[in-house]
Amino acid sequence: MGFQNNFLWGGATAANQCEGGIFEGGRGLANVDVCPSGSDRGAVITGHLKMLEMDDAHVYPAIEAIDHYHHFKEDIRLFGEMGFKVYRLSIAWTRIFPHGDEEEPNEEGLQFYKEIFEECRKYGIQPLVTISHFDCPIGLIKKYGGWRSREMIDFYLHLCDVLFNRYKDYVTYWLTFNEINMILHAPFMGAGIYFEDGENEERIKYQAAHHELVASALATRMAHEVNPENKVGCMFAAGSAYPYTCKPEDVWEALKTDQENYFFVDVQARGYYPSYASARLAKNGVFPVMEPGDKEILKRHPVDFISFSYYNSRCIAAPGSGREEAGGNLFKSAKNPYLDFSEWGWPIDPLGLRITLNQIYDRYQKPLFIVENGLGAVDIPNENGEVEDDYRIDYLRRHIRAMKTAVEEDGVELMGYTSWAPIDLISAGSGEMRKRYGFIYVDKQEDGKGTLSRSRKKSFYWYRKVIETNGEVL
Ligand code: BG6
Repeated sequence: MGFQNNFLWGGATAANQCEGGIFEGGRGLANVDVCPSGSDRGAVITGHLKMLEMDDAHVYPAIEAIDHYHHFKEDIRLFGEMGFKVYRLSIAWTRIFPHGDEEEPNEEGLQFYKEIFEECRKYGIQPLVTISHFDCPIGLIKKYGGWRSREMIDFYLHLCDVLFNRYKDYVTYWLTFNEINMILHAPFMGAGIYFEDGENEERIKYQAAHHELVASALATRMAHEVNPENKVGCMFAAGSAYPYTCKPEDVWEALKTDQENYFFVDVQARGYYPSYASARLAKNGVFPVMEPGDKEILKRHPVDFISFSYYNSRCIAAPGSGREEAGGNLFKSAKNPYLDFSEWGWPIDPLGLRITLNQIYDRYQKPLFIVENGLGAVDIPNENGEVEDDYRIDYLRRHIRAMKTAVEEDGVELMGYTSWAPIDLISAGSGEMRKRYGFIYVDKQEDGKGTLSRSRKKSFYWYRKVIETNGEVL
């Protein structure tokens, strides 16, 4: 049986992690630009250290990133060479609206993405566009406090209006917000929110989440109005929560962890606040303020498909159990004794992808799209300058095999798979360059030095074969 014939194979990037050129083309500054690498990053991205501009004491990796801004033709040519059917990229909001609240968009920014889409078309690659991959203009943070304010909805919709209309002939696959559940874990990086002393952080985060959920539903409506062919997806950081043991307290904590993540998708895909969330948010005094009509908006405009990132499963123990911790995308959890771990301490769990796919599909019965999956590792070129990344091939092979089984044996409806990331870029979590995910090596080192030249790793040829055979040769 295998994957459907039009299965969308490709790779995913985010503007701020690859473009660079942040002072070019009339672009304004965004939250993601001022997240420094180094020890202050954690406090900045979680909203506990206010940073709304750059200073001399920090290093800001987004300034140059991998300079995709000037290399995009070469990069997309290489994606074409691998046979990509789809390229997931994000729009830097501040290339289109430098401060976020201008009436007219910045034509130079629009032209940049148009050229990207034209380049994709040359190679028969469909774009899958994330409207906001964590981006929030600094102008809107200074004036409104980012997504904590309801005003953000209109600015976001203005951006959507421009994108949907200008790129009508190029793009039909859209994602409204990248990893929308990131708002609970890194609210500055995810939604431009920083906290003042004594604020009720939970209340602010869930209020901001509500604004994003309403914005997402309204964007979905708009996308369908502009072009009935448009398909809009939500995107969340997935990875099932396993109870550490069968002790009911562990099982209960694991269930709550899953619900915390599914909350967002429950609203975006089913169209209403699930009862567990309504009850708990109300009990904790953090139920968001809603405007009349919000419930109707959520109800009437659910997403067409569900996309997610999967890097690892989580292992959850009851509070106070003192279990050793492991890393992972989004948040830490207990260390699963049955798994291996990446160099960054993230669990490696291919079967977990099958489990996650089944759980999500059971819950929503909508087409799924894996839009991020990959291994962050240190790559060391050999004496010939080649990267033999068998560890990456092994990781991807096992995950693709697991998703294939989910399709073939469990009947999961899967639209496509975009690896994170097809080309080395800056890490979102740590701001490092040495945490590489790509099939394409970029000669840029942790100290910022390097020629920025691109070269094919061993995994490049492997992935090309995977796509060529629609996942038959792994
Ligand atoms: C996801 C994000 O959280 O995981 C990406 O959507 C990010 O932006 C990716 O890069 C991998 O995480 P990291 O921290 O290794 O870059």
